[in-house]
Amino acid sequence: MNYLHVFHAGNFADVFKHMVLLALLRKFRSKEKGFSYVETHAGRGLYDLQGEPASRTGEALKGVLKLADDDGGSEDIRAYLDVVAALPGNEQGMRWYPGSPLIARAMMREQDRAILAELHPEEAAALKANLRSDTRFSVHCRDGWEALKGLLPPMPRRGLLLVDPPFEDADEFEAIFRGLDEVEDRWPNACIAVWYPIKRSADLDPVYRRLSKGTYGAVLRAELCLHPDDTPASLNGTGVFVIRPPWQLDEDIRRWLPELGPRLLGKPAFRTRVDWLSAPE
Ligand SMILES: C[S@@+](CC[C@H](N)C(=O)[O-])C[C@H]1O[C@@H](n2cnc3c(N)ncnc32)[C@H](O)[C@@H]1O
Repeated sequence: MNYLHVFHAGNFADVFKHMVLLALLRKFRSKEKGFSYVETHAGRGLYDLQGEPASRTGEALKGVLKLADDDGGSEDIRAYLDVVAALPGNEQGMRWYPGSPLIARAMMREQDRAILAELHPEEAAALKANLRSDTRFSVHCRDGWEALKGLLPPMPRRGLLLVDPPFEDADEFEAIFRGLDEVEDRWPNACIAVWYPIKRSADLDPVYRRLSKGTYGAVLRAELCLHPDDTPASLNGTGVFVIRPPWQLDEDIRRWLPELGPRLLGKPAFRTRVDWLSAPE
C-alpha cells in the first residue's frame, strides 16, 4: 500500500470528484430527513497544498488552484471553491484542501451521520484528528470493504456510499464489483458513487458493459477527459459511476461539467459525457 493522496490532492480529478460529491450531497440535504454518508477509502480528510509532497508534484496548480485563480465561473464552481476557502487557515489563500470527509462534513446537519474506513494507520489517525471528535462521524482503521460487512445498513438508511480506491492494483474493478454485490445484499437502497481514473477509455469497456446489464438498477456515468486517450500523461481523464443517483443529478452535473475544461486548460476538454449506462425505470 504505497499510495498517499497528498501527492494528488486538489488535482483536476479531485476537483471533478468533489464537485460530483457536492452535487450529490446537495440532493441529500434538500430533504429534512437525515442521511448517512459512508466511505470505503476515506483518506486523511485534509491536505497541505504548501507541504513538501504536494509541492513536489504541483498537481493542485493545474486543479483547484487554477480554478481559484479566476474570480468568474458559475454558481456551482463558486460553491465548491467556497467550501475549500472556508477551511480554517485558508483566510489568506488556499493552503489547505479538504478531502471527501471534510467536504461531506461541510454539508452535513445535526441529523446526518457518517461512517468512514481508511486502511493506512497514519492516514486514519490524521482523519480522526481532522474531524476533531465530531460525534456524527465514526472512523474505522480497516479495509474498507471488510469494515462495511459489519456496519451496513447504516442509520439513517437513506444515504450515499463513496468508493474511491487508489487503483494501485490492476484488478481493482474486480474488488469493486465484489464489494458492490455485498453492499447490494446489506444496503439495497444505497446511492453508490464509484470514482475511477481514465488512461485509455477503451480499457473501461468491460466495466461499462457490466454496469449496463441492469443488475444495480439505474447507473449514471459522468466523465471528464481533459486529454485524448493516447496522451502519455499519467491521467488523461476521470469519471464517476453513480448507482441509483438522486433525481436530476445528471442535469446538475451537465450544468457545470462543460465549464471545467476551459477553466482548467484554457480550452474545451477533449471529451465530457454524462449519460446512462442503465437508465432509470
Ligand atoms: C484516493 S485516496 C482517498 C481520497 C479521499 N476519498 C478523498 O476524496 O479525499 C484512497 C485512500 O484509500 C486508502 N486505502 C488503500 N487501500 C485501502 C483499503 N483496502 N481499505 C481502505 N482504505 C484503503 C489509501 O490509504 C488512501 O488514503
